[in-house]
Amino acid sequence: MLLEGKTGLIMGVANKRSIAWGIANALNQAGARLVLTYQSERLGENVRDLAPSLNNPLLIQCDVSSDEQIQTMVQQVTAEIGHLDFLVHALAFAPREALSGAYSETKREDFKIALDVSAYSLVTVAHALMPLMQGRQSSIITLTYLGSERVVQGYNVMGVAKAALESSVRYLANDLGPHGIRVNAISSGPIKTLASSGVGGISNMIRLHAERAPLRKAVELDEVGDTALFLACPMSRGITGEVIYVDGGYHILGV
Ligand SMILES: NC(=O)c1ccc[n+]([C@@H]2O[C@H](COP(=O)([O-])OP(=O)(O)OC[C@H]3O[C@@H](n4cnc5c(N)ncnc54)[C@H](O)[C@@H]3O)[C@@H](O)[C@H]2O)c1
Repeated sequence: MLLEGKTGLIMGVANKRSIAWGIANALNQAGARLVLTYQSERLGENVRDLAPSLNNPLLIQCDVSSDEQIQTMVQQVTAEIGHLDFLVHALAFAPREALSGAYSETKREDFKIALDVSAYSLVTVAHALMPLMQGRQSSIITLTYLGSERVVQGYNVMGVAKAALESSVRYLANDLGPHGIRVNAISSGPIKTLASSGVGGISNMIRLHAERAPLRKAVELDEVGDTALFLACPMSRGITGEVIYVDGGYHILGV
């Protein structure tokens, strides 16, 4: 029960395949009380169906492209709980047409949306929740992918957004460290989810990964969940500003 008595917020559950849901299960089993946020009323139905398997979670709608919704969410967490020991940011979005064809054809509006939802949201949510997290040895965790540093066909503007996200992790770690808040990213190998199905050829990526990764297997949700547990609990108290790969070692490969 590494998180007994701890409370944290997890953003990004869409359904039972979501990485956020894998993390929610791991942190719930470790004894944490959870707040789950979901993007829309439609996805809220899925989250309400899943929630009974957790220990008394608080559910709040929050679309991160709306400053107003972020503010309302923070007010609700402040009123109902008053503090947070961890924040898991497991959300991203890019318009579908930006995830195929040439990256050089990316439209200005699509670029703005992808960077806003997938990278800026971490900055603004971390800032808004800082008063609830400071001085508690708390931990912020976000989700990234190798497409930030290597070219992955079809990942396009999302790779650029993930590069901005990883850089934000380092800047936020430096800003928030003096307040007792650590900030890290998990770089997961490919997993079939709602979001990853928008990237062309996800099934092929998973197959290639299982064939070639040093561990010769596809990445499982619970592997990401357990790494999030490590990053959320005091066992990782000396680590901040880091990207930890949960990819069976795939990123170490050359040709
Ligand atoms: N699945 C993979 O292969 C993989 C690999 C590495 C990293 N990731 C990252 O993991 C994270 C979770 O994605 P997933 O694969 O579990 O897919 P998912 O579709 O289950 O989750 C993505 C979530 O983002 C949310 N979201 C999108 N726009 C939003 C907005 N404006 N406001 C609030 N929420 C919004 C969606 O509602 C959804 O819950 C993402 O950051 C993704 O890039 C995924």
